[in-house]
Amino acid sequence: MKKPLLLRSIAKEPVERFPVWLMRQAGRYMPQYQEIRRRAKDFLSLCKDVELSVKVSLLPLELLGVDAVILFSDILVPLEPLGAKIEFTEGEGPKVLWSGKLSDLKPYDPDENGYVYEVVRRLKEFSKDVPVIGFAGGPFTLASYLIEGSPIRELKKTKIFMWEREYDFKRLMEVLTDTVYSFLSRQIEAGADLVQIFDSWTLYISRSDYEELVFPYVKELVGRIKKFYEVPVIYFFRGSSSFIDLASQTGADVLSVDWSVDLSVEMVRFENVFQGNLDPAVLYSGEETVKMKTLELLRSIPRRTGYIFNLGHGIAPDMDLKKVKLLVETVKRFGIEY
Ligand code: CP3
Repeated sequence: MKKPLLLRSIAKEPVERFPVWLMRQAGRYMPQYQEIRRRAKDFLSLCKDVELSVKVSLLPLELLGVDAVILFSDILVPLEPLGAKIEFTEGEGPKVLWSGKLSDLKPYDPDENGYVYEVVRRLKEFSKDVPVIGFAGGPFTLASYLIEGSPIRELKKTKIFMWEREYDFKRLMEVLTDTVYSFLSRQIEAGADLVQIFDSWTLYISRSDYEELVFPYVKELVGRIKKFYEVPVIYFFRGSSSFIDLASQTGADVLSVDWSVDLSVEMVRFENVFQGNLDPAVLYSGEETVKMKTLELLRSIPRRTGYIFNLGHGIAPDMDLKKVKLLVETVKRFGIEY
């Protein structure tokens, strides 16, 4: 197999165009997803149904023609083997039940997430030309779900926990770093061509808290993956402009940034490969605007390779599949027709 476009761009090798995939590319905005989703009892059962999860993972390849398949699952699934109860109630966002006591967490057994690796294994059979992305939540983002319990807004409980129970917070971060490492290594062994770490909730914290309480764990995690495996690591972190220099020192090959970052400037300052960063809200505007804002971003990229087009955050359930298709087509034609 010829090295796929996305992996060539990460290796900064010559590419014919920019590769594109989208965070949350498989989801409720697709009628085809809704149809498959109805066949499972609830969202968690869908994640545990290997057959259906494989089908859902492949929908964006069929409907959008993206350059990567991301495993269909959720960042919260490794919390279950740790002893937390997770619930996805329709329209309410996820709920996580944990006592707040470290002694109530069980040692992580990666075999309990066996269905995830099975989906990766099956995807490798179907997806011959495009790479399969494995993923996990960042230790901080998982900690904030455990601590908040219900939908995260301003991370009130997480901040109080990390400031008033710093020793416990650091122990929790260690447990989660080990958990994520073990979860990702099993995905890589099942065939994932690259992995992405989602640190969605760094958005709300200060630079000094990030530096002391988040960065060392991400660095440790990435370092461990890079020591034992050859796959590229993508690090997605929100509030990107505040921590970009620290994120570039985590050892991650690719920095996936939100729209707070000006790529025309930062891609000159930092040598990392970049991924991002169109504001997903662009997809709520008219077709002409979708095209214009996409081209505007593409034209601002100061390199031909070492860049992956993506959104600055995931696609929302109320977005329009037609516009998402137009977005992907616009990226794929760029440099060829424009
Ligand atoms: O990108 C993909 O297509 C792969 C699948 C994927 C899902 N969640 C599917 C999903 C990925 C990569 C995730 C990651 C994830 N999950 C993150 C990180 C990215 C981000 O958006 O910041 C986070 C924070 C979560 C936690 C989570 N899970 C949330 C906030 C929600 C939405 C809750 C809601 O009801 O709106 C989920 C559930 C979830 N994960 C859905 C999907 C398709 C919707 C569930 C359904 O169909 O009912």
